[in-house]
Amino acid sequence: MTNFDADRSYAEGLDAADQLSSFRDRFVQPDRDLIYLNGNSLGPLPVRTQARIAEVVDQDWGVGLVRSWDKWLHLPRQAGDMIGDRLVGAAAGQVLVCDSVTINVYKLACAALDAQPGRDVIITDDDNFPTDRYVLEGIAAQRGCELRLIHTDIDTGLSEHALAHALDDRVALVELSHVAYRSGALADMAALTRVVHEAGALTLWDLCHSVGAVPVELDASGADLAVGCTYKYVNAGPGAPAFLYVRDELQHQLRQPIWGWFGQRNQFEMGPRYDPAPGITSFLTGTPDIVGAVAVEEGARLLGEAGISQLRAKSRELTEYLIALADEWLAELGFAVASPRATARRGGHVSLRHDDAWQLCQALLRAGVVVDYRTPGRIRLAPAPIWTSFAEVWDGMDRLREIAASKSYTDIPPEQPDLT
Ligand SMILES: Cc1ncc(COP(=O)(O)O)c(C=O)c1O
Repeated sequence: MTNFDADRSYAEGLDAADQLSSFRDRFVQPDRDLIYLNGNSLGPLPVRTQARIAEVVDQDWGVGLVRSWDKWLHLPRQAGDMIGDRLVGAAAGQVLVCDSVTINVYKLACAALDAQPGRDVIITDDDNFPTDRYVLEGIAAQRGCELRLIHTDIDTGLSEHALAHALDDRVALVELSHVAYRSGALADMAALTRVVHEAGALTLWDLCHSVGAVPVELDASGADLAVGCTYKYVNAGPGAPAFLYVRDELQHQLRQPIWGWFGQRNQFEMGPRYDPAPGITSFLTGTPDIVGAVAVEEGARLLGEAGISQLRAKSRELTEYLIALADEWLAELGFAVASPRATARRGGHVSLRHDDAWQLCQALLRAGVVVDYRTPGRIRLAPAPIWTSFAEVWDGMDRLREIAASKSYTDIPPEQPDLT
């Protein structure tokens, strides 16, 4: 960072110049003292979303009752197009808001395998998010396919070389995260997609940690398929529906495995056999979550208003600043940066490694700073650009420094409790 200064006044100066600072007031803030650096787990509640959900519940459901389905039926596509246009670089008709990420990975991976009968290998990486690996493991077991895991460094992210080495003409699908959930390492989507295409396989990208923080160019990068969640940077709330993307040219070749009535052509004819609707609609399954889809639409609209390139610019500055403070204050207290240092290789969050990370996370929570713990020994900090101020990053890091230096966390049991 140019002219970096560890004094709080430096953060205040960055806040004064921040063009996005007014967006903070577009969120509900019941506790103004809380330092929330966890927008990549669950984003905060936008004021407009709160009002829109109340409207949907009170008017559309309460008064309109079943008559409201006329407008609700279009929501999965409508909200999908909003995400496509504002956040992930996808032209209309390729994104749907539906189901969960887990289910959408299943749907798209099965569809990709079925479309390439001579190919029986799926590739992912050994540090991909658990649900991705588990779903692919299940598909491989059900179908007698091979799941090939490429090794990924947990702090620096995917290696193009390892991927290229694992590819051959048996590979049907490569499923990868665009931003790694633990380290925040950002993959080069266009370059990796090119490598996969040279081997004749399809790509499926998990955008959970990039959508809303990093500009994504699905159409321009040549990506085939993608999924993402909406409860993180899109701020659509706990359990809000996920989204999926299927490149236009592939939509008629791919058939997803869950043949539900919302994916049926002429749904309300209630025909005797499944006949998939044309286009992206065939990737729907059953009745969509309407309240959730409305929240997705509002969340994407709000981010679109801020502008994804402006959000990325601020996010880069926030994470650079956080790393500069970590280097200045925390290195001597046993911390190490466990994320790529090159800003262009990093998404919206930063991980710090420390032997007592679990206790430090609990102590931070006790001190009013919300962060995440991730194994092994990582503290994950996500300053969401639409919400987080530079002063808040300074305050959060200052409390972490104080807790680590004073060892005030040592009364907390060192082991993460078994949550099962
Ligand atoms: C990269 C990634 N993929 C998938 C998921 C979760 O998927 P689901 O919404 O189906 O629980 C998460 C959740 O944190 C995630 O970080």
